[in-house]
Amino acid sequence: MGEYKMQGAELASMLKGQLHSNVNFKGMNDGVDDPSLHLTEEDIKWWRDAKLGLFIHWGVYSVIGKGEWAYFNEKIPQEEYRRIAEQEFHPSRSAREIAKEWIGYAREAGMRYAVMVTRHHDGFAMWDSGHSWKDFTSAKCGPKADYVEAFADACHGAGIHTGLYYSPMDWRFPGYFDPKGQPGNAALMKEQAYRQIEELCTRFGKVEILWYDGGWLAHQGTDGDAAWFWEPVKLNKMVRSYNPKMMVTPRSGYRGDFLCDEGPHEARGGIVPVPWEKCLSLSGAWGYCPEDHYQTGEDMIRMLVNVVCRDGNLLLNVGPDPEGGFPREAVKVLRELGKWMEENGEAVYGTRGGIWQPVDGVYGSTCKGDSVYVHILDCAAFDGMELPGISQKVKSAQLLDGTVIEFTQEPERVTLRIPEAVSREGRIDTIVKLLTER
Ligand code: GLC
Repeated sequence: MGEYKMQGAELASMLKGQLHSNVNFKGMNDGVDDPSLHLTEEDIKWWRDAKLGLFIHWGVYSVIGKGEWAYFNEKIPQEEYRRIAEQEFHPSRSAREIAKEWIGYAREAGMRYAVMVTRHHDGFAMWDSGHSWKDFTSAKCGPKADYVEAFADACHGAGIHTGLYYSPMDWRFPGYFDPKGQPGNAALMKEQAYRQIEELCTRFGKVEILWYDGGWLAHQGTDGDAAWFWEPVKLNKMVRSYNPKMMVTPRSGYRGDFLCDEGPHEARGGIVPVPWEKCLSLSGAWGYCPEDHYQTGEDMIRMLVNVVCRDGNLLLNVGPDPEGGFPREAVKVLRELGKWMEENGEAVYGTRGGIWQPVDGVYGSTCKGDSVYVHILDCAAFDGMELPGISQKVKSAQLLDGTVIEFTQEPERVTLRIPEAVSREGRIDTIVKLLTER
């Protein structure tokens, strides 16, 4: 089968979720707005500080092994999909064992939050939902287990911030594809979404992110275009009545608390002036595909550096196999990332993008208190470059291991001299920490 390739509506769904497509920075995006829903910088500080999270796509589609869009792309009849859920989705380990293992990997990778798909566009709820149309849940069909509960408990037990992904759209309803022609059926889908979201807000202890996906209708337009149908302000007022600080993505059609940038393309350009999160899968699809191509640890470290220097977060997805296990290639990447974070996390956690604008492929910077971290991704290209002048006095410059770095400061420039021996080491990111006078 080889590398997974997205096409048609699935590809359109990815493109709709990219930073450039849907964004007007003044109003965040084209979603509807309501100032009473806005969170403050203080409310979302934990998330801004956390920087790195784990995304998990796992469900009936993992058994099919053709990505999470299998039900739609392969035109699988509803009864057949239900049969697969009943007869083939049977992980041998308990929900708790599976979830604990996931969160163990997240911790090893240095991740501080995790987001689990609780129900994708196929409609299969991964918890004991009392409001699933035709009782299509992991508690009633197939494994007879509540994976969302196990996930939330594992997160809480490990001190990982908990996020739940939920897709309001559900392909099982003809009204999704024709909301104006079949309003009664579409209304059933909407009612299911409201009631299930209410369950997610009230059943699993502290949940801090509601990661909506798929607010668009009939695979057309944007999530904002579908606001007439979902009434996202009403929906999110309900969510906030249960958790006044719940962070939400823009995909319910309300502008949300941060922007998403979906997909494996590099983060380039200037610092993004609003909170944002890059999400991508370690493999080509989000859901499990046995022969899929994987990202490398080095590429993901570089991705993280480019994202944090532009003031974003990184949410990395793994699609566990039918048993709920992480594919070997994914574990390798997570471990490499974790090792790097152990040594370099100081220049990532709790920082903000800047003080300097990044130069694509060469360097960027992050800052925290009176420290500025210059992340050099290409020492050869950086050699001889000048950083723009700053008003604070630079007191010292050193690598994170304490190696002193020579520098000069003039009103219009700061120049760092990276020793030959350091450049030659070929680190993915050579980090110089500058201490500045307040
Ligand atoms: C999408 C897709 C999808 C995936 C997701 C993650 O737009 O429809 O399958 O779950 O976004 O961001």
